[in-house]
Amino acid sequence: MILGVNVDHVATVRQARMTFEPDPVMAATLAILGGADGITVHLREDRRHIQDRDLRLLREIVPVELNLEMAATEEMVGIAIDVKPDLVTIVPEKREELTTEGGLDLQGMKQRLREAVERINAAGIPVSFFINPSITDVDISKDIGAQMVEIHTGHYANARGEARDEELKKVRAAVERARLNGLLANAGHGLTYYNVKPVAAIEGIRGLYIGHSIISRAVLVGIEQAVREMKKLISMK
Ligand code: PXP
Repeated sequence: MILGVNVDHVATVRQARMTFEPDPVMAATLAILGGADGITVHLREDRRHIQDRDLRLLREIVPVELNLEMAATEEMVGIAIDVKPDLVTIVPEKREELTTEGGLDLQGMKQRLREAVERINAAGIPVSFFINPSITDVDISKDIGAQMVEIHTGHYANARGEARDEELKKVRAAVERARLNGLLANAGHGLTYYNVKPVAAIEGIRGLYIGHSIISRAVLVGIEQAVREMKKLISMK
């Protein structure tokens, strides 16, 4: 089970003062020492946390999977082709949102996504789509040409009791469908030390992409330890 650690919120603290610290690049190296199998950054159109400089330095020093989350815009496709991360995850992006709020609107963006995938793949980079836990969306992802999907676990994370069980079932069904379609299946968003185990236990899941909860714990215990604790949790059967 791959653990991709999203270091955006290290940059959020830095940008709060527009200064040089804490540095997400330093955080990434420590996360890797703690056992991260990948480092994720979301280069947003408004550059509210990760900066272009962070991405370029990470590309030079990250020996594990470097996953670039980005919107399917002309600017971002150009940056991806230039920097060459190991994986591009296409996410929806709205300026006013606090964080990515839902999966891609695949129907509405089909043509734009198809073109983005073709161009990014032509540069030798696989593409993952961040999608809602929906069988239909898995099928459309396959049809558009993605190699991977990341199933949005935000609704699972926010639900309680029986509603949470229902959300977990949807995530499980989407993972199964992706595998049937020959797509690699990941999951992420809103996962914490307290809710991650049932998702990690889903058969056939390739990896989990986690940011806020790990960085929050890292503020208190250090990032190496925070990553080590999450790795242990998701590896336990
Ligand atoms: N996966 C995707 C596609 C995301 O956009 C995010 C948030 O940037 C995450 C995973 C990580 O979510 P969280 O910070 O809630 O762990």
